[in-house]
Amino acid sequence: MLSRVALRSRPVAQAALARTTPATIMSSRRMYATSKPDDAKADKVKSITVFGAGLMGSGIVQVAATSGYKVVMTDVTEKALENGMNIIHKSLARVAKKMAPKAEKSEEDWKQQVLERITTSQDPAEAVQNADLVIEAIIENLKIKQDLFAFLDSKANKDCIFASNTSALSVAEISSKCSEDRRTRFAGVHFMQPVPAMRLVEIIKAPKTDPEIIEILLAITARMGKSPVNCLDTPGFIVNRLLIPYLMESVRMLERGEATAEDIDQAMELGTGHPMGPFKLLDFIGLDTASHIVSGWQDKADQGLIDKKLVEPSPLMQKMIEEGRLGRKSGRGFYDYSSKL
Ligand SMILES: NC(=O)c1ccc[n+]([C@@H]2O[C@H](COP(=O)([O-])OP(=O)(O)OC[C@H]3O[C@@H](n4cnc5c(N)ncnc54)[C@H](O)[C@@H]3O)[C@@H](O)[C@H]2O)c1
Repeated sequence: MLSRVALRSRPVAQAALARTTPATIMSSRRMYATSKPDDAKADKVKSITVFGAGLMGSGIVQVAATSGYKVVMTDVTEKALENGMNIIHKSLARVAKKMAPKAEKSEEDWKQQVLERITTSQDPAEAVQNADLVIEAIIENLKIKQDLFAFLDSKANKDCIFASNTSALSVAEISSKCSEDRRTRFAGVHFMQPVPAMRLVEIIKAPKTDPEIIEILLAITARMGKSPVNCLDTPGFIVNRLLIPYLMESVRMLERGEATAEDIDQAMELGTGHPMGPFKLLDFIGLDTASHIVSGWQDKADQGLIDKKLVEPSPLMQKMIEEGRLGRKSGRGFYDYSSKL
């Protein structure tokens, strides 16, 4: 715990502490303990349009449709949409066993009901015509996200809420090409991978986001069975801000020859109760994805928003990426998965 003396010398920590009033602690505890959706707020949205039918987009479409929302899944090619629907079909088959109501309906009927709530589109203007909420889960590139939202701003209903599933970009920067009104209805909703299984969603308030929009997003994600947390629009939000520097320091420890990847993983699994050590986790996330986040933070470090040392690139990771050792998805990272492909 920080002592009073330490806090006095840290104005930022003090300011953060000042914001964390007993009331905010209580309300977040309540949310985690119950995760009960506020129905009136969750009902403000009936129809959701998701941009991106990849790993994250398809997962978000699935959990939204499973929770009763009508969903349009949008991508740039028919092949990407087919890929997204295949992911959903496979995943629904797995969850149907748990979710299908016992006796009343067969697993197949339940799946069919969920699938009937999903439509697909390659036409972004048409896809947002009736949307109450847009969730974007496309490539992690600021300009591409900005351009998409600027276009959608002119096509969507003025009340439609816009949200980005960005891992580490600034939500305010993503929304910067939208109108001032829309920016009050713009937030981050950061789901975790794999979306159907992971309970956490970070709800990110940018400086202009109306608090009412945050309340609605908390209610919607709670209805999706998630336990959302509030956070501000800072580099990496909560999870990645803590996780990425930890993963990078693990790689640097390996580079310095202080321990093997296996021993570091074992130490963190058995010594701290983490389900996966840092190298297994890096292989799961993808070395390219982790490295992308780190390089995206360089300008934040230059602006003094994050410590430079925390986001120094790793020569070992760069070499592995150049060799195509990206982790599980490529069959090899710090560990070998070739027999599992
Ligand atoms: N993969 C993860 O572990 C993870 C976790 C949390 C958040 N995210 C974030 O979610 C977003 C998507 O990540 P992903 O892993 O699903 O990526 P992905 O590569 O699996 O899927 C991205 C999809 O977006 C599509 N796309 C690109 N431009 C588009 C456009 N203009 N309109 C519609 N579709 C478009 C692509 O065709 C592709 O199908 C990124 O911002 C990423 O940082 C990823």
